[in-house]
Amino acid sequence: MSLLIKNGMIATASETFDGDIYIEGETIAAIGKNLAATHSGAGKAAKVIDAKGCYVFPGGIDAHTHMNLPFMGTNSSDDFETGTIAGLHGGTTTIIDFAFQAHGGTLDAAYNRWQEMAQGKAAGDYAFHMAVTDFNPKVAAEIKTMTDKHGITSFKIFMAYKGALMVDDRQIVDLMAEVKKHNGLVIAHCENGDMVDQMIADNRAKGNKHPKYHVLSRPPITEAEATGRLMDIAHAGQYPLYIVHMTCDEALDRVREGTRRQQKVYVETCIQYLVLDESLYFQDGFEGSKWVMSPPLRKKEDQEALWAGMNQNLVHTVATDHCPFCMDQKKMGIDDFSKIPNGMPGIEHRMELLFSEGVLKNKISMQKFVDVTSTAPARIFGLAPRKGTIAIGADADLVILDPKVQHTVSAKTHHMNCDYSAFEGWKLTGKIKTTVLRGTIAVDGGKALVGKGFGKYLPRKQSGALL
Ligand code: URP
Ligand code: ZN
Ligand code: ZN
Repeated sequence: MSLLIKNGMIATASETFDGDIYIEGETIAAIGKNLAATHSGAGKAAKVIDAKGCYVFPGGIDAHTHMNLPFMGTNSSDDFETGTIAGLHGGTTTIIDFAFQAHGGTLDAAYNRWQEMAQGKAAGDYAFHMAVTDFNPKVAAEIKTMTDKHGITSFKIFMAYKGALMVDDRQIVDLMAEVKKHNGLVIAHCENGDMVDQMIADNRAKGNKHPKYHVLSRPPITEAEATGRLMDIAHAGQYPLYIVHMTCDEALDRVREGTRRQQKVYVETCIQYLVLDESLYFQDGFEGSKWVMSPPLRKKEDQEALWAGMNQNLVHTVATDHCPFCMDQKKMGIDDFSKIPNGMPGIEHRMELLFSEGVLKNKISMQKFVDVTSTAPARIFGLAPRKGTIAIGADADLVILDPKVQHTVSAKTHHMNCDYSAFEGWKLTGKIKTTVLRGTIAVDGGKALVGKGFGKYLPRKQSGALL
């Protein structure tokens, strides 16, 4: 199969230029102007797409998703099939999902379990991080197998969810040391689980049930404290670090401190923290449960700090933490905010939201957009140069976006398996027309042309953050 995409505004993390891209099989074979006339293969391409007036940029990499995650007594409602198809509609061609070690279980069992859920099901390409929830000497011995045999080179710890996923500081120190031996990267959910636990208990004791008590039990200081503590632990051992879903200026301040001592730290935020704020929790009734996630949404000032952080190279990636639950599942917490499953749907609209709210509103450049949605996650997580850019020899993962088309986000039209949209009614400018995955047109004009099992597992290399 060969494909010529002509007349596009080709955007990479370093430049935008007009030109054509010629694809043979799964990879990019040529980039240039007027390829139909100047390249013998392109002149005979089996399929030609005219991208005039459209941006063509690298397929998105969502470095933080949870498909079918067993969590808080239920499972996130998108599986690897529905979630990756929704991703493809939104220009995300690769996800990095989290395999979770069970308490008392092995990393190998977690890897096998997540492959069972993903293999033959994912429509988009996928890789795994390993969430280490019970670190001990036996688990330490498995880190090498994960990196060398399975290509899992990043290991996540939770500093929150006390009594469930949370690890203590000693486990963090030991994991960091072990991961460093194998050139891996530790990534972390930073919230002080003990502080949060006490505030939840206090609110429950007072009979406070409303979803707003979720945010009131997780103030920014809980995130900033854990971020600062982790930064110090990593600095002491000279370990690099990736912090997931950062939400607020107070936590970002701890990162600023780290950069003053030249610490190697990478920060992820998620699209919802850039465009939504905590007022959503204070609506009447149970509506606020739709945005119950951890850490919670913050104030408008925090959004500004995150946008600025991107431009200052303090915030490196924009993911989603896609972890949807339908309203029936959310209702598990109708009488107790602490039982509302934490997470929200987002994978389908990350790129269109960031383009519309970020690029078109001059908050970030087109190059920054490409970097935070694709190039940086590919480099940080060992997927480059195969993924994350438009280059000869790279996988032909490409998105064609018409910057003029206006559309409205709605659960009625989205493809995620979730009965509400966290962005219902948002009017966006810029719509994805076509998504190409490894040279195959995966979505075109709102129709998925690939399905179950088209996605490939991506064993990852050492993090580019360490090279
Ligand atoms: O609320 C969230 N973020 N749910 C998913 C699990 C996690 O903390 O990443
Ligand atoms: Zn988390
Ligand atoms: Zn998460």
